[in-house]
Amino acid sequence: MNDSPVALITGGGSGIGAAVARQLLAAGHRVTVTGRTERRLRDFAEGLGDPEELTTVVGDAASYDDIRRAVDRTRTAYGRLDAVVANAGFATHDSVAEGDPAGWSEMVLTNVLGPALLIRASVDALKETRGRIVLVGSVAGFVNTPGNLYGATKWAVTGLAENTRRQVTEFGVGVTLIAPGRVETPFWDGYGSLPPGPLLTAGQIADSVVWAIRQPAGVDVNTVVVRPLGQPN
Ligand SMILES: NC(=O)c1ccc[n+]([C@@H]2O[C@H](COP(=O)([O-])OP(=O)(O)OC[C@H]3O[C@@H](n4cnc5c(N)ncnc54)[C@H](OP(=O)(O)O)[C@@H]3O)[C@@H](O)[C@H]2O)c1
Repeated sequence: MNDSPVALITGGGSGIGAAVARQLLAAGHRVTVTGRTERRLRDFAEGLGDPEELTTVVGDAASYDDIRRAVDRTRTAYGRLDAVVANAGFATHDSVAEGDPAGWSEMVLTNVLGPALLIRASVDALKETRGRIVLVGSVAGFVNTPGNLYGATKWAVTGLAENTRRQVTEFGVGVTLIAPGRVETPFWDGYGSLPPGPLLTAGQIADSVVWAIRQPAGVDVNTVVVRPLGQPN
């Protein structure tokens, strides 16, 4: 029987989530990735040679039905769940004083409600394995930026991580907030260009996610802020 650990990553078809999935697969984990775009997930799986250890589930991180389906599919396929990574998220790259509110609902629901739904849908399975919850927040959830609603969603993720930790630590479930600085991923496509200054690679931030997941039993890494050297704020 295969009893290697199992992880579920939302928004795992590109960027940081895809890099985490690749590293976990290389380390012998079995992995489910979700995302809204079927083609993106299919391309990702095909690029890895469609391994049995990878399951893709099309779904919206802000839909409780979709998230429950992803958890159920994972447990049916692999028989357990050891880690969830609430990674799906995006920015509208605008501001509260000048932006377009049409894009804000989806951003707030994905970035704030999404992680809460993933926790709710997975916590019973994680209690069984004494597993881990990783939330991908942001440096924007620790520093203030003028007009930044995206940043406010990440302040919410910072709060959700610690509030969750205080509840689930007694169940033996770990909670880690990984807060990246600027990372070179498709996140910036909607911005029109990469931001100025140095950037991390997706693989460099995935290193921290995987490090937190692979801590020894009994060790719970709680908050990790990782900037590229040279990012002042
Ligand atoms: N890149 C940075 O500089 C940076 C810095 C700090 C924090 N972050 C955070 O890192 C996380 C990953 O972003 P990334 O940089 O890797 O960008 P990315 O490549 O755009 O990855 C985001 C992934 O999430 C998926 N996604 C978006 N909304 C979703 C939803 N509602 N339901 C399911 N999947 C959804 C996207 O796929 P679909 O569109 O196909 O669904 C995409 O695969 C995000 O939470 C982001 O806020 C990024």
